[in-house]
Amino acid sequence: MKNAVNVLIVDDDDAHIELIKRAFDSHRASFNLLTESTLAGARLYLQNNIPNIVLCDWLLPDGTGIELLSPDRNAALFPVVLMTSHGNEELAVGAMKAGALDYLVKSPDTFANMPDFVVRAHREWKHIIARKEAEVKLQQVLLQTVESLSLMVEKRDPFTAGHQKKVCQLACAIAGEMKLDEKVKSGIYIASILHDIGKISIPAEYLSKPGTLDPVEFTIIKAHPQIAYEMLSSIDFDSPVMKIVQQHHEKCNGSGYPFGLKQRDILLEARIITVADVVEAISSHRPYRPALGIDAALQEISSNAGELYDPDVVEACLRLFKNGFKFNI
Ligand SMILES: [Fe+2]
Repeated sequence: MKNAVNVLIVDDDDAHIELIKRAFDSHRASFNLLTESTLAGARLYLQNNIPNIVLCDWLLPDGTGIELLSPDRNAALFPVVLMTSHGNEELAVGAMKAGALDYLVKSPDTFANMPDFVVRAHREWKHIIARKEAEVKLQQVLLQTVESLSLMVEKRDPFTAGHQKKVCQLACAIAGEMKLDEKVKSGIYIASILHDIGKISIPAEYLSKPGTLDPVEFTIIKAHPQIAYEMLSSIDFDSPVMKIVQQHHEKCNGSGYPFGLKQRDILLEARIITVADVVEAISSHRPYRPALGIDAALQEISSNAGELYDPDVVEACLRLFKNGFKFNI
């Protein structure tokens, strides 16, 4: 039936299936009921069909209903509600943690109210999906905004065009090599692509000056991490992006700026971006010198590992280049 809610019931107890079906008797136009009695049967059905909701018994002859919630299923396609004959808080918590939409204890009342329950659960699922889609869209807009901000800096400083993007590529690759978790990697992505955004307030002639900067000019340039911190402080990022950006010129021995932080007082994300920044800067052309090449860049980080740069980060970076890492713009 078109527009009907497709409900897959997985239960090896024929009497329970019968009771559930009977509850839907007066709602036949609104629901399509499909039944399977084993986990294998349900899996086979789900390979080629996407029901609107699955009501699955906990204990099946060939496994448990929770196995239908394995991470490799396409969780976005259909919700699963687990049913048991005996209430058990531990099972309920386990079901929800595994990704079940809900957990039901079988009883005559539960069966009788199943149509109302399915309507509510189906509506809830649609809200969850809509919310997830909105979050993904919002995340995309955030990343696009961040990339536009990054481009704004490079428009003012064409001599270092692509610098932030390349630092971002290397920093993210180092984070991957160090097997950092997704949230940390996401913070590194945003912070690295914006790390020089504070240069937007530095006079363009200093940024593109072909010769050595005098002390006053250098002092002004050195303000860019703090300016970036202030620019980003009103944005509620999930990770400490503004602090990472603020610390991207700190060095492990305390010789960096703006605060002269040392070792682990510097955020790991900032220590990673520092190494990526140095490698990209040395290997690329600058207004005041030609490109020195990747070998010189790797020499710089390896000879100063532990002194200026985090040795674990340096090691991961060297491994990446040994395995063929290349900047990709
Ligand atoms: Fe910088």
